[in-house]
Amino acid sequence: MNVEGTSSKGLSGLRVMVFESRMSPTLTQLVRLQGGEPFAAPLLKEVPIERNQEAFAFGEALLAGKIDLLILLTGVGTRALVRVLETRHDRERILSALRSTPVLPRGPKPIKALDEIKVPYVDTVPEPNTWRELMATLDKREEDIPLKGRLVAVQEYGARNHELIEALQERGATVFAVPVYRWELPDDLGPAREAVRRIIRGQADVALFTTAVHIDHLCRIAAEMGVEEQLRAAFEKIVIASVGPDTSEALRAKGLWPDLEPSSPKMGPLVAETALRAVAVLEQKRRHGCGVEVRDAILDLAVEPVPAYEDGPFLRACRRQPVPHTPVWLMRQAGRYQASYRAVRKERTFLELCKSPELACQVTVQAQEDLGTDAAIIFADILLILEPLGTGLEYSKGDGPVVPHPVRRRADVGRLKSVRPEESLAYVMEAIHLTRRRLRPEVPLIGFAGAPFTLAAYMIEGGSSKDFVRVRRFIREEPEAWAELMERLVEATGAYLSAQVRAGAQVLQIFDSWVGCLTRDEYVRSVQPHTARLFGRINGLAPNIHFGTGTAHLLDLLAQAGGDVVGADHRIALDEAWTRIGHDRAVQGNLDPEALLGPKESLRQRVQAVLERAAGRPGHIFNLGHGILQTTPEENAREVVRLVHELSAR
Ligand code: CP3
Repeated sequence: MNVEGTSSKGLSGLRVMVFESRMSPTLTQLVRLQGGEPFAAPLLKEVPIERNQEAFAFGEALLAGKIDLLILLTGVGTRALVRVLETRHDRERILSALRSTPVLPRGPKPIKALDEIKVPYVDTVPEPNTWRELMATLDKREEDIPLKGRLVAVQEYGARNHELIEALQERGATVFAVPVYRWELPDDLGPAREAVRRIIRGQADVALFTTAVHIDHLCRIAAEMGVEEQLRAAFEKIVIASVGPDTSEALRAKGLWPDLEPSSPKMGPLVAETALRAVAVLEQKRRHGCGVEVRDAILDLAVEPVPAYEDGPFLRACRRQPVPHTPVWLMRQAGRYQASYRAVRKERTFLELCKSPELACQVTVQAQEDLGTDAAIIFADILLILEPLGTGLEYSKGDGPVVPHPVRRRADVGRLKSVRPEESLAYVMEAIHLTRRRLRPEVPLIGFAGAPFTLAAYMIEGGSSKDFVRVRRFIREEPEAWAELMERLVEATGAYLSAQVRAGAQVLQIFDSWVGCLTRDEYVRSVQPHTARLFGRINGLAPNIHFGTGTAHLLDLLAQAGGDVVGADHRIALDEAWTRIGHDRAVQGNLDPEALLGPKESLRQRVQAVLERAAGRPGHIFNLGHGILQTTPEENAREVVRLVHELSAR
């Protein structure tokens, strides 16, 4: 996507807060080119560390040939490091030592710095260039760049990257951290304070965060002004755009929800993609407009808290914000266990029902209202996309889904058609549109799709499977065809999910239902990068949920691939699952669907047990571990929803 320099003016009339320091002139110019009104408020100053003992010790080790691998995290830091060493040693000696040491740059900026001094590097790290991709690159090169027992130097910038250091240590490396400069608040805090005031007064529409440190600094400045809470509340009404995953993580850690993250973690795509989506995001965030007028006096006195815009418990839980009660919905809440569903279904096939927007809307709303859940999920199926892809799709009574033209070899992948969801799946968009209008305003609508692996499993197996032998063999024996198939599915599902958001979906769930059949190794090598790319496409469109079953051994890897909320099934205790997922994410789950078969008297205790594992921590969405069973008494499904609300009321 490249809209820079074109005539599109996606930021026309929008007031954009630019927090970048060094590249501030470039970024403000990019904003102007898109028709926006930039306000530059630099949030940091880079301070070189004088008398840098670690850097000098590193210099000695480097010249003695003792460094087995040097990891460079930033371009500015790489240049600064060479400058520091030059105060003690001859430049040519330093460069020649660097040239004979294996060097791994994290991304394009350190690469540029290395090119300037003609120092080669052993590999490149794929986008989005976080420590995760860096470690994945090293893991791939395990044979020729071993870490065990080796001395690995890491050029650091500002804050320490603990995750990276721990990951290196886990693989047996000795880590030599070399801090080069640190970050401080800028000397002139005037512009930053003015930015805080403008955001709180409602005189800003978009905030561009270009490094993780910005968030800490902004919160510090607001805290000193005594308006941290007001600032947080005001962010619920403006577009929060984050340059990449590290910055987004820092935002979430402060309870701020990034609305946008570009497909590539650079300033150009950040502005271009913000321009494309800002107006839609603003409309959505301001739809319920609380229209709080903030008197200037508050900014000086900071006494009265600004009432935050209250959206429902479900969306708040996705963002790990406090809720009045734990939100709950049930996977497959509309289905054959309901008499009303069976009545509608009696007259037509499942596919006919999916393709009748009016009826799909009716069964969606009926299930939500009848159960009293905190969200509705659009009535559809993860396999509908197989029809436009060209493999065909049938649902046979008793056998579940059947794929008449399965993918068995590379040529079959080549024959797949590209999907234009707004045309070939127009009936889903129509159903979403109708349902969004029909549901009560405080009930969010969930859109969904199958994850690339689970869709591929159906396409290769030709239908449901117990052992998934065919798909696992395919991954092993046809690696290129597999990569191509994943590519096609990421493309198709990415477009499908975006279209659902445009039609009115407010949350997206990705079902990787059968991913639990894979080993960690298979997942990391052949699935995770593709799932991560799908999340890269949809992050920021709407909060998203990443769900799979039998994933106890994969939860950390699933969380790495993506998901504002990560689902766990009932085979693992929820607290254990949450620890593996990480407390920086919300979780969904995980009552055993079998509990709903009764007796009704035992339900209370089983619901209570799940809630206890969640321990009232913000960011729990109650659900079953997997879809509701067909033989479930409707009364018990209602009772679960009622119990969750009662037992979790705060
Ligand atoms: O309330 C909801 O959750 C409604 C929407 C929904 C359906 N399927 C309706 C459906 C959703 C979100 C799905 C997702 C889905 N579909 C998944 C992922 C979730 C999971 O269970 O892991 C999967 C793997 C499928 C594929 C699929 N569709 C199967 C295996 C089957 C047959 C098995 C069965 O339960 O009958 C379907 C058909 C299907 N999808 C039905 C429903 C209500 C039953 C159709 C009928 O009325 O006969």
